[in-house]
Order: sequence, then C-alpha cells, then structure tokens
Amino acid sequence: MASISLSNIHKLYPNGYAAVRDVSLDIRDGEFMILLGPSGCGKSTTLRMIAGLETISAGDLHIGGARVNDVDPADRDVAIVFQNYALYPHMTVADNLSFGLRLRNVERRIIEGRVATIAGMLGIGDLLARKPAQLSGGQRQRVALGRALVREPKAFLLDEPLSNLDAKLRASMRTELIKLHRTLGTTIVHVTHDQVEAMTMGERICIMKDGVIVQVGAPMEVYRNPVNTFVAGFLASPPMNLLHGMLDSDRISIGDVVLPLPQSLRRAFASHAGRKVIVGLRPEDFHLKADAAPVAAPIEVVSVTTEVLGPEVILVGTLKNSSAELHIRCPRDFRSEPGAMTVFNYDLSQLQLFDIETTTALMRPVKI
Ligand SMILES: Nc1ncnc2c1ncn2[C@@H]1O[C@H](COP(=O)(O)OP(=O)(O)OP(=O)(O)O)[C@@H](O)[C@H]1O
Ligand SMILES: [Mg+2]
Repeated sequence: MASISLSNIHKLYPNGYAAVRDVSLDIRDGEFMILLGPSGCGKSTTLRMIAGLETISAGDLHIGGARVNDVDPADRDVAIVFQNYALYPHMTVADNLSFGLRLRNVERRIIEGRVATIAGMLGIGDLLARKPAQLSGGQRQRVALGRALVREPKAFLLDEPLSNLDAKLRASMRTELIKLHRTLGTTIVHVTHDQVEAMTMGERICIMKDGVIVQVGAPMEVYRNPVNTFVAGFLASPPMNLLHGMLDSDRISIGDVVLPLPQSLRRAFASHAGRKVIVGLRPEDFHLKADAAPVAAPIEVVSVTTEVLGPEVILVGTLKNSSAELHIRCPRDFRSEPGAMTVFNYDLSQLQLFDIETTTALMRPVKI
C-alpha cells in the first residue's frame, strides 16, 4: 500500500500537445480515488504517467514517499488494468493469473495460494482451466482484474475497466470492487466517465477538464457544492439545470419567472445583485406537493417530452415564454402531454448561482 502524490505534473506529447497541465493531487494511502472527466481531458494520460507507461514532462511523482519519475514501470509496484484488457490468449485462466508472479520467481506454493484466494474472491474459481476465448466478456474482465490483484501491488490503477460490460454485470463488478477495496485496503485510482461509478465507488472524485483539475472532493461534496458550471453540468444524470437569470437584491428572474430570494441567501449573493448570472436548479428540487420543501416558490413548466424510466419520470420542459430546456425528476406515476403545463414547487434553499463570465459558483456551501 502506498500514497501517490502528483506535484505540478505536466505532460507534453511529442507532437507538442499539452495533455496534462500542472496537475497536483495527493492520494492517501489506501484511498479510492476517482478520475472523472469528458473524453480527452487527460485521465488516461495521468494514469499512465503514474504507472510509468508515459514519461512525465515536468513535475514530481511520488509513490509511497519516494520520487519515481525515472523509475522503471516494473519497479513501481503498481498494477494497471485497461478498458481493453489483454489476456494472453494461449494461456489458461490460471496461467494468466499467475504469470506476473512466475516472472518474479515467487515460490510456487505462494502463487497457488494467492491465485486460489483471488479466483475465489472474483468468482472465477471454476474457470481456471479455460482459455480466454472460452470466457464471456465479464469473466475475462474479472480475470484481468484478478491478474492485477494477485500481484498485491502498492496501488491499482484502473482505466475504465468496467466500460465494456453490460449494465447488470457492471453493477455487480462495481459492488465487487468496492468490497475488494474494503478487504484489501489498497490505494486505487479509478478512471471512469460513468456517473454512477464516480458517485458510488470513490472516497474522493477528481474532476478534470482540458488537462487540468477542476475540483477534488468527496462525491457528495462535489455534487452539492460544484465549484463552477462545468462541474455542475457534468456530474449526475440529468445534471443541474443551468439557466440565464437576472439577480436583484431580493429576487432572481429567469425570463418571466421570478423567484424570491430567501433571507438566508441574500447576503451570499449580494456581490452580484443587479447583474446577470447563471442559475443552477437541480432536477430533484422541483416538487409536485406544495409542502415538500419549507421555502418554495411555484414554477410553471411546459412539457416538451417525458422519459419514463420506471422508478421515476424525467420531464423535459421549458419555462413559460422561454425556449431553454430543463429536466425535472418526477415520481414514477407522473405523466404530461407535450404542451401541457405543470406547476412545480421549487425548493429555494437549494438555489445555486454562478458568475456569468468566470462560470464560478457564488459561495454558498449547501449542507451535505
Ligand atoms: N500519444 C499522443 N500524442 C499526442 N496526443 C495524445 C497522445 N495520446 C493522447 N493524446 C491526446 O491527449 C489528450 C488526453 O488524452 P487521454 O487519453 O489522457 O484522455 P482521456 O481523458 O483518457 O479520454 P477518454 O475518456 O476518451 O479515454 C487527448 O486530447 C488526446 O488526443
Ligand atoms: Mg482514457
């Protein structure tokens, strides 16, 4: 087990592209850290630099307190699992699992013990004699994970290892990984762009954009207090609704809709009174029942379409006299024809505002 510390890390690819810029991140010993961000933001590059598969252009990388910038990947004692896991096709599952240990001349008895334990943990104990071609995608993925696990490395680096799995298997592997982390206590850096994985698996989420870190924090902290519109609009599905508004000292107008500002928020937003702002409204803060929120204001929403998901219905609608769309979480029995109007009670205590130019949140931490 080991901490991983990135200090002012840069990656400049030979073609001159700056894929990672000034990234500093301290991952605690035993921590489960999620790297989240849109495609191309530098997640894999960051992970590959930690593993030693990419050179570091500038900055310092420490694993377990030792500077490892120039240490060979094989000597860093970290295991990486890729999205496109490459198993050795000519080897059995057992041989795939034990290969790394055999290379290191670990005693046979120890190898057999570890392979049996890990195979049991991953539920692949009865597949040990098979070749990869005789396995399903999910089974192969578990073997790939197992191959990393038997090594008992200081840290696991997982690059979207679940993204090739179907929804059900993915959900069960998610749970397995969380349990594994609890059992082994090994440091894990897990790259994903899956919202659910990010929220449920990690102790902290590190959100990246265009090669830089935008926000790091516990999942609910990042969810409740996004630092800017990018994080607000990226996390969760559907994400926070972001609408243009006009702030006054005691109210906020979004087109024709006027929301009174609760007393508690007036001071927090005072710096921007009289200015245009971006208004952030989470889809779950709209309620059909009038008494669902203590400080609420009515908002009329015109239905564009509804997405009936089973446990809930997502209403896609617009505010009166406005074309900007917003998403609202509704109970599973909610129905609305296109063009029909519904009055929701919006929970004003959850209102979030962002500076229109910098896109930064106006400080008002929401309780987690
Ligand atoms: N060898 C390379 N040479 C030049 N540019 C590269 C190279 N590898 C990656 N890039 C670029 O660096 C940026 C970051 O790539 P990276 O693979 O780290 O993104 P990512 O966040 O993992 O994206 P995804 O979610 O799609 O996997 C991308 O714009 C990519 O095109
Ligand atoms: Mg990637």
